[in-house]
Formats: sequence, C-alpha cells, structure tokens
Amino acid sequence: MAAKRPLVAGNWKMNGLGAALSELRALRERLAQDPPVPEIMVCPPATLLTRAHDLLAGSTILLGAQDCHPLPAGPHTGDLSAEMLADSGAGAVIVGHSERRQDHGETDAVVNAKARAAFRAGLTAIICIGETEQERRAGTTLEIVRRQLEGSLPQDARAANVVIAYEPVWAIGTGLTPTQADVAAAHRFIRGELGRLLGKEESRDLRILYGGSVKPANAAELLSVPDVDGALVGGASLKASDFFAILSAYSRRGAG
Ligand code: PGA
Repeated sequence: MAAKRPLVAGNWKMNGLGAALSELRALRERLAQDPPVPEIMVCPPATLLTRAHDLLAGSTILLGAQDCHPLPAGPHTGDLSAEMLADSGAGAVIVGHSERRQDHGETDAVVNAKARAAFRAGLTAIICIGETEQERRAGTTLEIVRRQLEGSLPQDARAANVVIAYEPVWAIGTGLTPTQADVAAAHRFIRGELGRLLGKEESRDLRILYGGSVKPANAAELLSVPDVDGALVGGASLKASDFFAILSAYSRRGAG
C-alpha cells in the first residue's frame, strides 16, 4: 500500500430509496469540482448498490455494502453473500457494526467469518468495534476493544484488505462524542494491538476510522486526533452537503 490516505466512509444504514441517489449524484458533482484529500466511500443499502455503481462510474467515490453472509451461496433466505455484493459493484463491506451485533446477536466469531468472506470475494472488510455505555462506565473500554479485535480480525488481515472502525456504541446516533483524549487513547491502543496481532508494518499502514456522531461541526476536531485515519459517518452521510462539509475538514487543515 502506498502512503496511507485517510478514508471517510458514509454508512447509509437502512435509509435510502431510489430518490436518495440524487444525493450521491450531488456528491459526485461536488467532488469533481473539489477533489477530496481523503478517499471517499459510500455504503448504501444493498438494494441501491447496482444503481449507485452505475452512477459512480468514472468517479473516484468507492462503493461499499453494509453486511454479508459468511458463505458464498446456499439456503439462507434473505441473506447476501460477499460475492453477490462484489457482483453488484461493491469494493468493500462493513462487518460487525454494533447494530448488527445488537440486532442480530453477531459474535466476534461471526464477524471474523464475515471478514474472511469479504477477503474471499476480493472485498475490503471494514470491521467495527467499540464499547457500550455500560462498558465505558465500568472502565472496561480497552479490554472490550482488545477482545473484539482479537476475535473479529482474521489472521490474514492486512492493511490492504482491512479497515478498522472504532465506534463507541453510546456515541452512535446520539450526538455524543468522546473527548479528543479518549479517542486518541482508544486509537493508540488499537494501533498497538494491531501491531501485536499483525506486525508493526501492517499496523502502521492499517487505517483506523473513528465513528459515532461525526458531523460537520465536530469533524475537524475528531479527524485531527493522532491515529485517526478517517471516519465512518452514519446520519450525516445521507445529505451530500453534510457529507461534503465533513470531508472538507481535511482540506481546511490543508493536509491528510
Ligand atoms: P452516526 O452513525 O454517525 O449516525 O452516529 C455512525 C455509524 O453507526 O457508523
């Protein structure tokens, strides 16, 4: 991998009918005038992947999906394999988002299998980890993050096929964010753990995103924290103007 470039990814979650593609079109036009410093990715619902892929042809905006099944095919009604997502135009897939861990009881072992499915299909796996409010209050944040990382990260994870998203569960969709010092401590710890698990070089090159209530108003502050290599943005990625304002945090500070 060349010099590490930050990544800002938008997770649309279960939002977006066909009409929402107008936001993607607007983003594409805006970024064509004003090329962004970071890499940009949009993760719409699977129903929009093919249309989004067509719309983004020739642009530098990357396309990701939000979840995949561990297996390539089979009797799993309603599920989508990583191969299907790749076939629909995705180049990446989010796995282990806290909403999947909570709503669908996904364990670290399941997340690990999904990340391996992503590799098998040639997709980058964006692996999400992060503590709940209760775990934070109990002072176990780093312990939780270590356990999730150890369990969710496949042995053949590399900087080229994995992105880690540190998302404190209590910060997702709440408007609350950790302090810069807390973000720095968590990311530094994750970098160290990645070094232990994958070796120093991979750890240095692997991107660790912060996620949880990233907004235009706090993006510059959060994205300037050491060891924060970008953001995973939920709510504020749905409107092109908000998402663009978050990306501009990089150009405003004039460096990546
Ligand atoms: P949020 O979501 O930006 O709406 O807090 C982030 C995420 O869940 O990835």
